[in-house]
Formats: sequence, C-alpha cells, structure tokens
Amino acid sequence: TGMFTYDPGFLSTASCQSTITYIDGDKGELLYRGYPIEQLATQCDFLETCHLLLYGELPDAKGKEEFTRRVTMHTMVNEQMQFFLRGFRRDAHPMAVMTGLVGALSAFYHDSTDINNPEHREISAIRLIAKMPTLVAMAYKYAMGQPYIYPKNSLSYTGNFMRMMFATPCEEYEPNDVLVRAMDRIFILHADHEQNASTSTVRLCGSSGTNPFAAIAAGVACLWGPAHGGANEAALNMLHDIQRNGGVEKIGEFIKQVKDKNSGTKLMGFGHRVYKNYDPRAKLMQETCREVLAELGLENDPLFKLAMALEKIALEDEYFVSRKLYPNVDFYSGIVQRAIGIPVSLFTAIFALARTVGWIAQLNEMISDPEYKIGRPRQLYDGSTRRDVRPIAQR
Ligand code: CMC
Repeated sequence: TGMFTYDPGFLSTASCQSTITYIDGDKGELLYRGYPIEQLATQCDFLETCHLLLYGELPDAKGKEEFTRRVTMHTMVNEQMQFFLRGFRRDAHPMAVMTGLVGALSAFYHDSTDINNPEHREISAIRLIAKMPTLVAMAYKYAMGQPYIYPKNSLSYTGNFMRMMFATPCEEYEPNDVLVRAMDRIFILHADHEQNASTSTVRLCGSSGTNPFAAIAAGVACLWGPAHGGANEAALNMLHDIQRNGGVEKIGEFIKQVKDKNSGTKLMGFGHRVYKNYDPRAKLMQETCREVLAELGLENDPLFKLAMALEKIALEDEYFVSRKLYPNVDFYSGIVQRAIGIPVSLFTAIFALARTVGWIAQLNEMISDPEYKIGRPRQLYDGSTRRDVRPIAQR
C-alpha cells in the first residue's frame, strides 16, 4: 500500500506547527520564542524562561513577581506521596521513581483533570513546575535513606531545589550563588527543544485527552533512554571508564573503538539529529563548567581535562568531521552536576525537571489549536496476508 509516506524516525516529517522553539541545526542556533539561548542563559533566570515558554513573552518585574508567587504557592506535594515513594526499592533508578511519582500526581487534583479546559491546564502547569524540584529531591533523599527536606519558599526556585537536595535536619545548607546560578542555567538550557522524542511523546499522549500529569509522566518515561535524556548519565559514565582505563592516553584507543561499528560503542554526548554544528547549549555548558570548577577550586579536575581532550581529538577526526558530529548539551552538563554534588544517577531526573515546562508549553500549544486531532500515525503493513487458524493439534 503506497498510500502513506514512510519516514522512519521522522527524519523529514513535521508533526506540528509551533511558535515555541526554533533550531537552526546547520548554524547551531537555538531560540526560545525568538530569543537566543545565549541571551536567556546569561540575562534571565529559569522562572522568567518558564514564563516565556508558557505565555510567549518574558515577564516584566511585576509579572515575574506574580508568576514566582504563583509557582511558589505550589511547591509542597501531598504527604501521601511519601507513602507512594516508600513502595520503591531504595536502589530504584531515579527515573523509574520519577515516572511513577509524576504519574501518581494525576490522582491528586480532581478539580483540574480536564486537559481540554484551559484553566485546568494552567493550574496543572503551575503545579508541575512547582513540584518537580520537590519530587526530584525526595527521590534523592529516599535513595540516600535521609529524611525529606520540605520546600522553603523564601528561597529562589533553584536555591530551594538545592536546599531540598543538600540540607539535612542536622545541618542547614547555605546555597552558593555560583552553584545556584549554574544549576539555574542547566534548567534554562534544557527547558525546551522543539519536537524531540519526549516532547513528541507528550503531544501524542496528550492528544487522546488524557490527564495532563499522565501526559507529562509519558514524557519522563521517554526521556530516560540513553539516546535522549539518559545521555548525560551515559556520557559521565563513559568519561569515568576512560579515566579508569588510563585517562587521556587512552583516548585514541577509545575513539578507535567508537569508529568500529561492531563495537556498539558510541561517543556519548556527541551527535544530534538536528544540530550538524556545535550545539549552542554545549558551548554555554562548557563555560558554566569552567565557572563552577573555578568556584570550587577544582580547575584541574581530571574529568574536565579528559572531556576537553576527547572533544579536541574527536573534532579533528575524519569520522566525526564527515558525519558532522559535535558535542551536544550532555557532553559537559554531567561534569557540572557532579561538581555541584549531584549523583550521576540523578542527572536525567534533573533534565526531566527542567524539560517539564517545555512539555507543558507544547501540550498547551497543541490543545489550543482549534484544528487539533488525536495523533494517529499510519503504517505500511508488510506482514502475512489473510490466513485461516488451524486447530491447535495441527499447528
Ligand atoms: N558516536 C559515534 N558515532 C555516532 C554518534 C556518536 N555519538 N552519533 C552518531 N554517530 C554516527 C552514526 O553511527 C551514523 O554513522 P553512519 O552514517 O556511518 O551510519 C551517523 O553518525 C549518523 O548518526 P545517526 O545515528 O543516523 O543520527 P541520529 O540523528 O539518528 O541520532 C543521536 C542522533 C543523538 C541519537 C546520536 O547522535 C547518538 O546516539 N548520540 C549519542 C547519544 C547522545 O549524546 N544523545 C543526546 C542527544 S542531545 C540531548 C537529548 O536529546 O536528550
């Protein structure tokens, strides 16, 4: 049947029209609502960026205060969530936990579950943005066997997250401005990236009219994979492996292995479906990495040195040059997070926290479109033609 265009992996099919994020993959350019990522990352904070993605404009001072107040009012999660969390093994992967926790939120807000109602979507958006840091921190504390730290609403969004992560009932955590700013920048850089796999998942899931929290849980599930959000974790594990096996001297050997297609080894944190040039987020991440390491007196961090050397060697290698493979956002984000004290297994959960606003903005855009329909891809069937069932004894 030649009725449908076959485009595996959606290499050349646009699934929607959107006004949110623009990527020029050849130039290495990323814009949120028209604003370059470099300007947003250096002149705005994450909540301003959330406002921009959700409502289309950066807030003025009063709008920012109002939006911050609204988000802050919703930072706590229902106490029942603790019991749900307790059902997991302590060594559960944080992304398994997050998929469950975000899905579980769908059972708590019976006043606002109609995805087709703009007011319901609005309050769900605010709740999700507000509660994600609390949930990620709870997942971390649970894995550590430490008591949960409740949100403290006098702190900034990101300062509050860091405190929920690192304070204990025995010891307050004094947020360090440079580290909070770095974490905030990680959030900004991950906030949206047009129709990537998890965002497309959220759109498709939401198109059935499901509960908005359930649609976001689907996005979390998709993000987990190592070809997508899981790459930050995989990239740091890869750097650790090279380091353990001899460090910078062994890069040549490692690259050789990557180039051998039968090895199944990829250079994690490299390559992108859309960017055929340096990922602008990777540049900003590399800068942030320098700032954070300097602040912590870790300028000679061997993993950062290794990553820089690996990048240099790869960018001079014919294999990577001819395929236009450059570092992506995940190549350096792991080093920053590790320096801040975030455990490797939590990296992707932090990506999910940051991407939540993008998922919701995209979901809103889809549902606000008067022409939106349930997403229902077609297929090219090439299985068996019609045949008859034989009695079991004759099969
Ligand atoms: N290491 C080695 N070879 C690679 C890599 C890599 N990281 N990425 C792509 N290639 C090769 C690939 O084997 C193929 O070679 P050939 O033409 O000889 O068959 C060619 O480059 C084109 O790659 P592709 O797999 O067709 O490209 P894609 O658009 O389907 O995949 C990707 C994009 C991001 C999944 C892939 O580059 C990859 O797996 N990278 C490593 C994982 C990673 O860093 N992911 C994070 C992406 S950015 C953040 C996010 O989305 O969450």
